[in-house]
Amino acid sequence: MYYPDEIIEEVRTKNDIVDVVGSYVKIQKKGSSYFGLCPFHNEKSPSFSVSGHKQIYYCFGCGAGGNVISFVMNYENYTFPEAVKVLADRAGIKLPEMEYNQEAKEKQSKRAKLMEINKEAAKYFYYQLRSERGQIGYRYFAERGLSDETMKKFGLGFAMKTSNDLTKYLQNKGYSDELLVEAGVSAFDERYGLHDKFWNRVMFPIQDINHKVIGFGGRVMGEGTPKYLNSPETAVFDKSRNLYGLNFARTSRAGNFILCEGYMDVIAMHQAGFTQAIASLGTAFTSGQANLIRRYTDEVLLSYDSDGAGTKAALRALEILKEAGLTGRIINLEPYKDPDEFMKHLGKEAFAERIRQAENSFMFEIRMLKREYNLEDPEDKTKFHKEIARKLCSFEIEVERENYIQAVAAEYHIGFENLRKLVNQYAAQTGFAKPVDKPKSGIQKKQTAEDHKKRTQRMLLTWLTDEPEIYRQIARYIKPSDFTEELYGRVAELLFADLAAGRYDPAAILSRFTEEEEQREVASVFHTKLEGIETKQDKEKALRDIVYAVKKNSYEYYTAKLGTDVRALQQVIDGKRALEELAKVHILLS
Ligand code: UTP
Ligand code: MN
Repeated sequence: MYYPDEIIEEVRTKNDIVDVVGSYVKIQKKGSSYFGLCPFHNEKSPSFSVSGHKQIYYCFGCGAGGNVISFVMNYENYTFPEAVKVLADRAGIKLPEMEYNQEAKEKQSKRAKLMEINKEAAKYFYYQLRSERGQIGYRYFAERGLSDETMKKFGLGFAMKTSNDLTKYLQNKGYSDELLVEAGVSAFDERYGLHDKFWNRVMFPIQDINHKVIGFGGRVMGEGTPKYLNSPETAVFDKSRNLYGLNFARTSRAGNFILCEGYMDVIAMHQAGFTQAIASLGTAFTSGQANLIRRYTDEVLLSYDSDGAGTKAALRALEILKEAGLTGRIINLEPYKDPDEFMKHLGKEAFAERIRQAENSFMFEIRMLKREYNLEDPEDKTKFHKEIARKLCSFEIEVERENYIQAVAAEYHIGFENLRKLVNQYAAQTGFAKPVDKPKSGIQKKQTAEDHKKRTQRMLLTWLTDEPEIYRQIARYIKPSDFTEELYGRVAELLFADLAAGRYDPAAILSRFTEEEEQREVASVFHTKLEGIETKQDKEKALRDIVYAVKKNSYEYYTAKLGTDVRALQQVIDGKRALEELAKVHILLS
């Protein structure tokens, strides 16, 4: 599913990034760029830059960066096609129908049908809730404190007690039996034939981030089982990659998400103004969902039931959040069972206070651990302390570890020095554990030598985009293949081709990279700070040094590859010549 490249480029070039960003963020001209407070992280002094020349934005603080399309995507939390659409409208460009290839077309039409059926079903349930016979459902929601407006916002509905009405209705619309089963709204068995999957239930349509219905949860009226019945997984309903309420939460700007257990919890929270509430879909929280969250925020507040099962689920969710590089904190709902009940009894002010007091995940883990020991018993108590020490070893950074030792020692009345000794004893046996691996796309910490190599390569690419004139002087020494960092090599390839042809359009280069992480990195490649270079003489020397460093790294890189890579020999010969020359010459800037 895509628009032709030319159209995307037209949309991009007809939307000046300074104008577009300026309509969202207050920016001021400073030198050749505009600066303002970064909308993607909290800061007090402006490190967010927008370059009209490069048509790229970049934050020197948090590393957010991209072109005008990715800005709108990130700011509005839009998908790529959504952002393109908004910008096309803004510039008065009419978009063609999206293009599909044959296979994609078939898959798409199947998906489209399943989406249609879900939409029809949602409309049907919605209508039923507001009909005479649906009054029982309506009253149920009203008694649980939901306003008309809330019911409407979440598209709540009702499925009648005794009927195959929906199945019949959809059959009449021409959908085949197979498709109805595949969409999960009908089920088949020997005894009843084809029948409605949901009956005698209030219905919660589950929407994807674009507000399209992809499945349902239905709560039984009264005491039947299961209490909640959910749509099966279908081609459009992947339970591990969607979250209830995310379609609203993603634009909430609260700076965090509140993860709840149930649909009703989410709805109660949104009604109270906590529009950042989300929930998993009748299944346990998954790493796919954590990755989804990571696109919007890095802090998740857990608001799980305060019973045993809820606690266990919360501990597991915390682990998953940690693995995804997200911070988790726990909201204490005592003495109530879940956020829905809490809200009903204590209200939103009290809940806001609980958010502020939300407990750090490590302290929560320790507090839950404590329940497993009898602290009256010296032996058990010792075991508890040892287990704490073992867990404290997971903090690899000393300051952090010390802080936690201090906090735990104070909380559980353990002598600080004693606990520290215990931690060090454990560490002596096993070492301080490696921190949880950041997911692939996360920013990895590299050694400093490696950093330096990358940095000089980045500086050269930034310099080339700031002052494309230098291309003529350096093309003699540097080729794209000298950028040994894979991503930089790809950027250089495109940039050099442009410069050689007398073209200049960094934002178009950035457009070629479609992953968000890659875009950020490419934006950073074009924004590496070149500091302390004042005079022309300084500049010439700095440029020569950078070119030399990049070439030298490349020379060493390919020398190490001699024998395994056929292209290496030519690179080494070429590198040797260039280094000898560079040692003698000055690069003269005009
Ligand atoms: P709860 O049983 O805690 O739901 O299950 P709740 O929201 O408090 O229910 P009410 O308040 O009695 O209406 C939490 C979530 O677990 C899933 C549903 O997604 C539910 O929202 N669940 C629960 C099921 O999928 N099936 C069930 O039988 C029960
Ligand atoms: Mn409940």
